[in-house]
Amino acid sequence: MQSGDRQEPAFGVYVHWPFCLSKCPYCDFNSHVSHVPVDEARFARALAAEVATIAARIGGRTVSTIFFGGGTPSLMQPATVGSILEAIARHWAIAPDVEVTLEANPTSVEATRFRGFRSAGVNRVSLGVQALDDAALKALGRLHSAQEALQAVALARSIFERFSFDLIYARPGQTPQAWAAELKCALGQAGEHLSLYQLTIEQNTPFAVLHGAGKLVLPDDKKARALYDTTQTVCAGAGLPAYEISNHARPGAECRHNLIYWRAQEYAGIGPGAHGRLEIAAERRATATEREPRSWLARVEALGHGVVSDEPLTREQVADEFLLMGLRLTEGIDAASYARLAGRPLDARRLALLQERGAVETTPSGRLRLTLAGFPVLDAVVADLAA
Ligand SMILES: C[S@@+](CC[C@H](N)C(=O)[O-])C[C@H]1O[C@@H](n2cnc3c(N)ncnc32)[C@H](O)[C@@H]1O
Ligand code: SF4
Repeated sequence: MQSGDRQEPAFGVYVHWPFCLSKCPYCDFNSHVSHVPVDEARFARALAAEVATIAARIGGRTVSTIFFGGGTPSLMQPATVGSILEAIARHWAIAPDVEVTLEANPTSVEATRFRGFRSAGVNRVSLGVQALDDAALKALGRLHSAQEALQAVALARSIFERFSFDLIYARPGQTPQAWAAELKCALGQAGEHLSLYQLTIEQNTPFAVLHGAGKLVLPDDKKARALYDTTQTVCAGAGLPAYEISNHARPGAECRHNLIYWRAQEYAGIGPGAHGRLEIAAERRATATEREPRSWLARVEALGHGVVSDEPLTREQVADEFLLMGLRLTEGIDAASYARLAGRPLDARRLALLQERGAVETTPSGRLRLTLAGFPVLDAVVADLAA
């Protein structure tokens, strides 16, 4: 569904839970291992305070999606999740078809909480399966086996209306044949949505150190491209084509919350290190909160919010984000909307060159999108068009 089709403008609430049981060596998300028990009630009060502060600032909205991300939100007690959802509902109207997603790690301990999450109001889970191969899971530093992950997937299927899981591919030594087999197995267990990420080396992670020392060798560009092509063919063949560079769904089953980011719509960011984009007095503002959980907590308890940066975006920045995020989607962007936001159309000469090279295409309805060949070079295309 296009954004214009909805009755109410989309508005999402992102809630960040920053704790994990252990830190995976590839991950640079804002996640922390707490050596003392986390005072969930205190964090929940602080998250509710941030909701109240943002609501007082932006006024009435109808919440179309809520997303608990992390970190590992499945480490929360269901009652904590419930109290955060209640706080959101106290301040904003909730759409009758609200999508409420929670990211979960697929360990048996967390799976025991699934029913509680459902009763609290979660209607979609996204599980970090990462691989269906025990050796690969070990190399990724995961705390679960493939079998345990698949059991969690089966339980999620029986409890939630919608579920998705994540896999990481382009792992060291992975061949297209092995990946195709793993992916087919995953598709056999999948619902209507899968997130498939190419392993990236993030700065300041243990994987970056190993990679720098030549002890972790990733597939080169050609091999990575073959793995990417395998992903597209196998998923499209199973009825889950890509709708975003790393996300696949049966048409209609896309993650509505993430679509809000990619369509450059409005969302509030709650919790440590959360980002938001708020429309206030005809301005689009970018907000970010303190990343360190206990500093964030202290800030919220003193000020009612953990915001450390809150800036209006210039017309150019708004247009660049619209382009950068929208071209991740296979639906692409409406070129006329870009021109309206930027105050000028896209550069026709650059566009023609990119079209000639087969990286982008224009649909009959005037939408601009990347071709399948253009997706792997998304960053270069955006840099070219936004320049
Ligand atoms: C916020 S994280 C994880 C949620 C949850 N804590 C978990 O690990 O299952 C969301 C997803 O990003 C992906 N991811 C994280 N770091 C990555 C990296 N360096 N390369 C590729 N994918 C990555 C993983 O698939 C992960 O499930
Ligand atoms: S991948 Fe998930 S479990 Fe691992 S450190 Fe990152 S957020 Fe935590």
